[in-house]
Amino acid sequence: MGAHLNAISTVGVVGLGTIGSQELALWQRSGRNTVGYDVSESRVKAAGAHASTRVSDLNAADVLVLCLPNLAPDGSNSMAAFDRFVADAKSLEPRERLIIIASTVPIGFTKELAARLGSLGRLVAHAPERFDPGRGTELGEIPRVVGALSAEARNLTIDLYTRAGVTTHAVEPVEVAEASKLLENSFRLVNISFINEFAELCRRLGIVAADVIDAAATKPFAFMAHQPGVGAGGTCIPTMPRYLLEAARKSGLEMPILQDAVTGNEQIIERVAEHLRELLSAGGIKRGKVLVVGASYKPNYPDARASAALAFARGLAKHHSVVVYDPIVETAAFPQDVALVRSIPETRFDAVVIALKHRNTDLDALRGLTAWPREASTSDAVSWRKDTRRPSSPAASATTTSTRRAAWDGGCGCEKTSRACCTYGSTPRATGATTGAAC
Ligand SMILES: NC(=O)c1ccc[n+]([C@@H]2O[C@H](COP(=O)([O-])OP(=O)(O)OC[C@H]3O[C@@H](n4cnc5c(N)ncnc54)[C@H](O)[C@@H]3O)[C@@H](O)[C@H]2O)c1
Repeated sequence: MGAHLNAISTVGVVGLGTIGSQELALWQRSGRNTVGYDVSESRVKAAGAHASTRVSDLNAADVLVLCLPNLAPDGSNSMAAFDRFVADAKSLEPRERLIIIASTVPIGFTKELAARLGSLGRLVAHAPERFDPGRGTELGEIPRVVGALSAEARNLTIDLYTRAGVTTHAVEPVEVAEASKLLENSFRLVNISFINEFAELCRRLGIVAADVIDAAATKPFAFMAHQPGVGAGGTCIPTMPRYLLEAARKSGLEMPILQDAVTGNEQIIERVAEHLRELLSAGGIKRGKVLVVGASYKPNYPDARASAALAFARGLAKHHSVVVYDPIVETAAFPQDVALVRSIPETRFDAVVIALKHRNTDLDALRGLTAWPREASTSDAVSWRKDTRRPSSPAASATTTSTRRAAWDGGCGCEKTSRACCTYGSTPRATGATTGAAC
């Protein structure tokens, strides 16, 4: 197979979603012939000429890179997409192929899949994808951890990615690769959940979490700043840690810190909504007119699947009149029951919640949208953060700058966001939070 790989002409990519389309582009850039396969017509159409819904088109491939989902349509963890792949693979012309699993998988899954693939399971590697959509980096710029079921499969995979200009890090056994990806996702979730918990404490203590985080981040080692928000969204961070919990359960181990992070993340939306309710009712408003800024699952990326910002807006809409403003969110799968605007509306709102801040979000324009006296909502982001005291009454809020603002720091869960990006400052009628997390 080594010699065969030197002459390798075609890489097949299975699953052409967020990751598969990027993998396809990587192999095309590196000069390989490519063939993409997806069960979805629309994904195949979007992928262009070298993609197909016919599994037989994968016959040309010497290597199959699996970019399949690990969630069911309802958001629960599921490896069912791989069941179909096993059936599809059995229909391919029998010949040796290298199989590389790029998807995030439970610990032990690579071995299990190889066994199910029969003779096609001889050369199976796992090189978990770590792409971060919206960050502005290309997939090939991110080093790949590579584990495999044999030295041969590992070396072939490393050789292939190295020739495409990708840095690799070899590990063994393959379970190290599987666990490393779950560790990365879990690390993010634990940190995001903790910082949200911490932000709530700061709010109650009357200090601004973002100022505390900025201060802590001046330590040149052993601290990584995470920012609070309405919770981690997307199809990776909130869900993949469940595979680690499952592994722990099977091993008879409890992981209460990770478990709390998973459940805590689900509660953040309600906590922020409750804070908003308090702010509005302090102004005598029961059913407010609220603008929620941001609907995708992370900044600068249009995908709204499993978006915490969108879930927040939908929850809020049960009690308030909600409009969502997001200039880049994909509209095709956007829920019909949520009012979406693509540009900053000209009407006024009782509250503006910056649930997620894309690049170039005009905070000044958003601040001007609240119906309260202008000076109550035009303070700059920094003073929102500096001024933490909550209004004691609507009258106080309307008259005294220092008591009119309550600050609850929202964030995007990123380590490297600008100060303004992570601001969730609030007046009784102008609040903001940002969120989102990367895989
Ligand atoms: N999205 C990210 O940012 C990201 C980052 C790193 C890792 N990952 C991991 O990469 C994997 C893929 O994620 P994604 O975001 O690209 O998912 P996605 O939902 O965007 O794409 C998956 C694609 O697979 C297709 N598909 C489903 N079953 C199939 C089958 N049996 N045969 C062929 N095609 C099939 C779907 O139609 C879809 O187009 C997941 O395991 C995810 O955890 C994702």
